[in-house]
Amino acid sequence: MGKTLLVTGIGELTVNNPQAVDNPSARRDSTPEPYADAAFVVEDGRIAWYGPAFDAPAADERLDLGGKAVIPGFVDSHAHLVFAGDRAAEFAARMTGTPYAAGGIRTTVAATRAADDDQLRANVRRLVHEMARQGTTTVECKTGYGLTLEDELRSLRIAKEECDAATFLGAHVVPAEYADLRAAYVDLVRGPMLDACAEYADFVDVFCERGAYNEAETRLILDAAKARGIPVRLHANQLGHGPGVRLAVEYEAASADHCTYLSDGDIEALACSETVATLLPGVEFSTRSPYPDARALLDAGASVAIATDCNPGSCYTSSMPFCFALAVREMRMSPGEALYAATAGGARALRRGDIGHLAVGARADFTVLDAPSFLHLAYRPGVPLIHSVWKNGDRVG
Ligand code: NIG
Ligand code: FE
Repeated sequence: MGKTLLVTGIGELTVNNPQAVDNPSARRDSTPEPYADAAFVVEDGRIAWYGPAFDAPAADERLDLGGKAVIPGFVDSHAHLVFAGDRAAEFAARMTGTPYAAGGIRTTVAATRAADDDQLRANVRRLVHEMARQGTTTVECKTGYGLTLEDELRSLRIAKEECDAATFLGAHVVPAEYADLRAAYVDLVRGPMLDACAEYADFVDVFCERGAYNEAETRLILDAAKARGIPVRLHANQLGHGPGVRLAVEYEAASADHCTYLSDGDIEALACSETVATLLPGVEFSTRSPYPDARALLDAGASVAIATDCNPGSCYTSSMPFCFALAVREMRMSPGEALYAATAGGARALRRGDIGHLAVGARADFTVLDAPSFLHLAYRPGVPLIHSVWKNGDRVG
């Protein structure tokens, strides 16, 4: 038995409903019911006890938070951190009317290929650290700016070493040198690239969208992932209506990400599936696009996650608190729904039952707010309210 830490003086403790987290069929995302005057005990990096402070057991060490709120650490289930360069000029052009298009990815591909491993790793570390300082304790990271076997493999290795989940996105766009050889590139992705990357890939993702991969190409790549037993997730319905969400559900994807343009049939399909609808409102903010219809998804009974999509093109924020505020203000999620989506929802999108909540047995990944309630994350947008961040019971931010 390790040393025990009693965290007490918690103004408001959000545990999240572990039943909804652990039981995939209980997909109704419950609204968290925070406890007042709560305490919890951490032992060996896990939550060993929680309850009213007056009932707290003795512990080796004690941390009094003086009335601050505690939430589960944010689970950022969608990010693209292995890249070089920035596209600030593209962003500026967008703000004066140039629409966002998938092709901008190729600018980052060129810069990423030119960077060495140390530069790429340093960029990932910088962003993971930035995320931790903003309350995030779990980060998923995709490849997709290498688009050669060697560059995808080194990107995936770095993602696997520096982040909590690594996703192979060799099918981000078709690289320029294959513009007239699309089928050959798809064959490269689903064959040799996937063979090389399989041992490091927690998930395989495809950008299924006009300007990226069509339905037939997406199916070929998803089939290849399934044949190797690797779970899938999809970039779906970001720039327009299309087959992405339907395919995600058909292939039992862990999540369908973006979901900006949904038909009633897409919403119904998500609601009747275990596939999480991962919403990325920072993208709509940064590309000046309409926000996804979170209310329709939630009201239909779909599982919803919120993530940053941190990437140099469509959305260069690393801030889950910012995305939380957007979810509440722009997508009409209640603060409770948004908090659940940014924690337990993200955990479900990564198929993790041990994070995203603080019930007994969960990993002690928690964020302390410089505020009496998590409501302040939306009520005080843009204010640095993260007091401290703990992962596996250790302070990381
Ligand atoms: O999730 N949609 C595809 N990929 C990223 C954008 C990448 C980029 O523009 O560099 C996204 O938005
Ligand atoms: Fe993305």
